[in-house]
Amino acid sequence: MDKSREGTYYAQRSPLPETPGPGTGPAPWQKTRVVGTARPRVDAYERVSGAALYPSDIVLPDMLYGAILRCPHPHALVKRVDAEEALRMPGVRAVVTGSSPGANLTWPYSPEVSRLLFDPHCRFEGEAVAAVAAETPYQAWDAVRAIRVEYDVLPFVVDERRSLETSAPRVHEGGNRVKGEAYERGNVERGFAEAEAVLEQSYRSECELHTPMELHGCVAKWDGDRLTIWESTQGVYRVQERVASVLGMPLAKVRVIGHYMGGAFGSKLQAGKYTIIAALLARRAGRPVKLFLTREETYLAAGNRPPNNMRLKAGVKKDGTLTAFDFSCTGTGGAYPAGGVALVDWLVRDLYTCPNVRTECTDVYINAGPARPFRAPGHPQGSWALEQMLDALAEAIGMDPVDLRLKNIPNHSQARAGNPRYTTTGLRQCLEEGAKAFGWKEARRRSAASRTRGHLVRGVGMAAGLWFAGGGGPPSTVIVRLFADGSVNLNMGASDIGTGTKTVMAMVAAEELGVEPEMIEIENADTGTTQYATASGGSKTVPTEAPTVRAAALDAKRQLLAMAAEDLRLDPGDLRLEGGTVVSARDQSKRIKVTEISALKKRGVIVGVGYRGPNPENRVVNPFAAQFCEIEVNTRTGEVKLIRFLGAHDSGRVMNRLTYDSQVIGGITMGIGFAMTEVRVLDRSQTGKLVSKNWHDYKLPTALDVPGEVVSLPIEIEDVEANSTGAKGLGEPVTIPTGAAIANAVYDATGIRVTDTPIDPMRLGRLLAGKRKEG
Ligand code: MOS
Repeated sequence: MDKSREGTYYAQRSPLPETPGPGTGPAPWQKTRVVGTARPRVDAYERVSGAALYPSDIVLPDMLYGAILRCPHPHALVKRVDAEEALRMPGVRAVVTGSSPGANLTWPYSPEVSRLLFDPHCRFEGEAVAAVAAETPYQAWDAVRAIRVEYDVLPFVVDERRSLETSAPRVHEGGNRVKGEAYERGNVERGFAEAEAVLEQSYRSECELHTPMELHGCVAKWDGDRLTIWESTQGVYRVQERVASVLGMPLAKVRVIGHYMGGAFGSKLQAGKYTIIAALLARRAGRPVKLFLTREETYLAAGNRPPNNMRLKAGVKKDGTLTAFDFSCTGTGGAYPAGGVALVDWLVRDLYTCPNVRTECTDVYINAGPARPFRAPGHPQGSWALEQMLDALAEAIGMDPVDLRLKNIPNHSQARAGNPRYTTTGLRQCLEEGAKAFGWKEARRRSAASRTRGHLVRGVGMAAGLWFAGGGGPPSTVIVRLFADGSVNLNMGASDIGTGTKTVMAMVAAEELGVEPEMIEIENADTGTTQYATASGGSKTVPTEAPTVRAAALDAKRQLLAMAAEDLRLDPGDLRLEGGTVVSARDQSKRIKVTEISALKKRGVIVGVGYRGPNPENRVVNPFAAQFCEIEVNTRTGEVKLIRFLGAHDSGRVMNRLTYDSQVIGGITMGIGFAMTEVRVLDRSQTGKLVSKNWHDYKLPTALDVPGEVVSLPIEIEDVEANSTGAKGLGEPVTIPTGAAIANAVYDATGIRVTDTPIDPMRLGRLLAGKRKEG
């Protein structure tokens, strides 16, 4: 994902009017009955009991199992593929290679670069070479191993820091430079001249791998020329679009279903090669095919958060006024254009008021699997640099880190053309109320006192952030059906990626229709039966879908009240819907049960339609954040124990306090992984291959790594300009400041700036030993 695509990726414009009525939609809620309360998920029982059918649970009659042969080299040419023996193996029903009929397809790696689906030039370890479908997964894997491939092994480069060296092998014919992006405002040199303290520092963040609990994959089934795909995805319509375009089919012939999915974090925003390969195998075998990747395959080929090498120079006056930022960054999206530096500089450009800013980002190719958007693309990396720098600047001028940030709060976006105003910015409240609730000043004093005693020292740190998107926008269509017995069906295309989307949408419909959320039956994420939605991502699912659901519910309610008005012989404007009964606002005795309304009885169902209208013109909807943490460092071992965390988040209205807090806890946990444990390890010198292939060698944070106390402090500023529910996005901002807050706490505890992730005992122990030697 790329910032130039902000307009299309996260907030496509729609010519459709928002219903109901003219203007920008319904007035904000005054008092809510359901929205904002803490509600367990409407599908909690299904999820917890195992009754929920995830795509990886789907078993169809006659179903085969697919497996993909992947290139074992980081860089190689496929000279010959011999599948003769594999085809004769027991249980094998289909083999597909690049020369199979119908397999000569084009795969779009990015909008700019397309290659063959089975590209004979394999530019990363894990590139697809051939595939098999067999009666059992074991037979499929045995057959994959029986396919003989002749490779021309080529020299590789898997270290982005070496990619532009003249001696580095070329990943693409045109060289290893993807592109450079530059941004400038003001006069950076003048800014540094005006500064009273200037600091400069290099930072590095390691490549992180998406690790959703449910692996990537699908089940594909043909009925004549119609294709049905059950896919673990963030967006069924995105999958439909790509499958139809790659296979050259009409959209209407491709049905994609994804009722449940077990996590993605940006890595399942589109169809994978595996989706197409499953469809090809299924067509060849004339039977449905289930094709899910192994964990190793997802680590090789299903995406990552790019590694970034950053340098930041910053100037500040003694009163805390920021005068200049000069930022540069090198990153890699792997072997294809995949946003190796996308949005890494966004926080430097836009989080704080600063008149003079220059950024330069260089994206390079290496022989490794392509990156994918990963929860707040670019932002945790940029925050790692910027927020550590803010901490250092504060110390340089003898100012409290919270006060330095408070001094530089913008009310408009400086990085966007025309400097549009934010609809709301709760950054000040996040900082002030967060610091107060955390007990920032007292904790800092306590941690300073702890440093005179023994080898266990306390440290306290904080960081702030914003997420550049998160405001949602069109298109989205939702249908609400109200049946004659008063029960309600909510029909929407959006996926619930584990964040509680279905629950929040049921609450919105329940709010308007005067029923309990459990009364709302939801159909979602099926291109065959549910309405159009963009993929659930970009922290835009609630701000996009909730106003649409509200519009659809209001449309249904308007029709219902009109029907009731006929029976009651009253003006529909005087009527209210309360718990299954339509009541006159003027005369409580005038009422009629929904089940008694004659026109509804006759028609059987009311169909309410809602469309997502545009966001306000010349405004930016962004969520804001501040996080605070207290840690303990063992100066003998370099171990860091997280004691407590507090996340203060302005994401507009809180829709469901339970799922809200879950997001905050989950985002902080993920940020802990980014800062402290997660590293993709490639063998840089010998083989170029992935070394961290599994959950033993790729370290995810576990229950032992998260603090015992995580406090979620919503800064609830209802954003009435943003949309008709007042909610902004939450999923991504919650993971942005976490890493830098930890690094700042480590500095507070030890006086050591850990500029490179991960902050693990190996690294910190070494730094502490070095410091002891110096000291
Ligand atoms: Mo997100 S990284 O748009 O799922």
